[in-house]
Amino acid sequence: MEKKHVLDNDDELLERRTGWDGQHLVNYEGFWFPEMFLPSIRSSRNNFVAKNTDIILATVPKSGTTWLKALTFSVANRGIYAVDQSPLLKSNPHKLVPFIQEYIGDEHDKLLPMENVSDPRILSSHVPFVMLPYSVAKSECKIIYLCRNPLDQFISLHHFFASNKIEKEAVPLGFEESFDMFCQGIIGFGPFWEHMIGYWNAHLENPKKVLFLKYEDLKEDIVLNVKKIAEFMGCPFSEEEVGKGVVEEISKLCSFGNLKNLEVNKNGYVMDGVLKNNTFFRKGEVGDWANYLSSEMAERMKKLMEIKFEGSGLTF
Ligand code: A3P
Repeated sequence: MEKKHVLDNDDELLERRTGWDGQHLVNYEGFWFPEMFLPSIRSSRNNFVAKNTDIILATVPKSGTTWLKALTFSVANRGIYAVDQSPLLKSNPHKLVPFIQEYIGDEHDKLLPMENVSDPRILSSHVPFVMLPYSVAKSECKIIYLCRNPLDQFISLHHFFASNKIEKEAVPLGFEESFDMFCQGIIGFGPFWEHMIGYWNAHLENPKKVLFLKYEDLKEDIVLNVKKIAEFMGCPFSEEEVGKGVVEEISKLCSFGNLKNLEVNKNGYVMDGVLKNNTFFRKGEVGDWANYLSSEMAERMKKLMEIKFEGSGLTF
C-alpha cells in the first residue's frame, strides 16, 4: 500500500520490521504499529477530545471488532431505528462506527467530520490502553474491550492478510514463519499479550470505566452479553423491551450469519478502498485454529500464554 504519511526525523531511530504480509511495522513505546498509521495514532492521542458520554470500542484486529461495532451501534440506537430499518442492513459496521483516527488524524489524512456524530458517540480503536488519546483517561467516557483466543486470532489474521494483500507487491512469509513472528509479538498493535493485559488491568482497576469481554463468551451467550453491554453503556433494556424480545432481535440482526449474507457486506470496501467488506466475515467460529495449527504450534502458544498471563488472572 502506498505510504501516505511521513514520520518525524526522530522517528528514524525507531526499530522497524517487515510484517509477515509485507506491511511496514514500527516499534513505538514497546508496541508494533503499521507505520502508515502511526502519525494519525499519535495525532489523535494528542488531539482527540473525549466527551463524558463517549463509548470507545477497543480491540486487537480480528478479535470481533466488526461484531462489537454492530452490537453497540444497535444497542445505542434502538430507540431510533426498528431492527428491520437498521442502518446495518445498508452499511458495513465499520462505516457506522469508524476508528478515532478516521476523525482525528494528521495533516495527510482525509478526515471524517466529527461534528456530524451524535451523542453518545461510539468510536473505535486498535491501539493499546497506554496509547489511547490522553483525554480518554481524564473524561468519564467508557471503554469496551473485546479480545479473543490468540490462536483463533492468528488464524483469522492469516486469512485476512491473504485476502486483502495490503502491500500489493509483497511476497508474504510462509505459515510457520508468520506464526513465529506472531509468537514474538511482532504484529500490528502487538504484542497481543501486552495489549490484553493493559486493558485487563485497567478493567480490574476501574470496572465501571472498562468493560472486558471475550469473543468466546459472546459466542456462548450473546443475549446475556448484549444485556451486559447495554447496562455498561448506561442504557439497560427495560423489562418491557426484554419481554418483547428486543435483546434477541438485536443479537440476531448482528449475528454472523445475518451480517455476512447482507448484500452490503458481500461487496465493496472500507478504509479508502483497501479492505474488502467480505473479508470481515469469514467463518466466525471458536476453535478454528485446530484445522490449521500443528500440535507443536498450539503447544508453543499455550505455553506462551501461560507465561505471559501468569498471575494476571486472565485465561483462555
Ligand atoms: P474469523 O476469521 O475467525 O471468521 P474483526 O472484526 O476484529 O476484524 O474480526 C474478524 C473476525 O470476527 C472474523 O473471524 C470474522 O468472521 C468474525 N466476525 C465478524 N462478524 C462476526 C459476527 N457478527 N459474529 C461473530 N463473528 C464475527
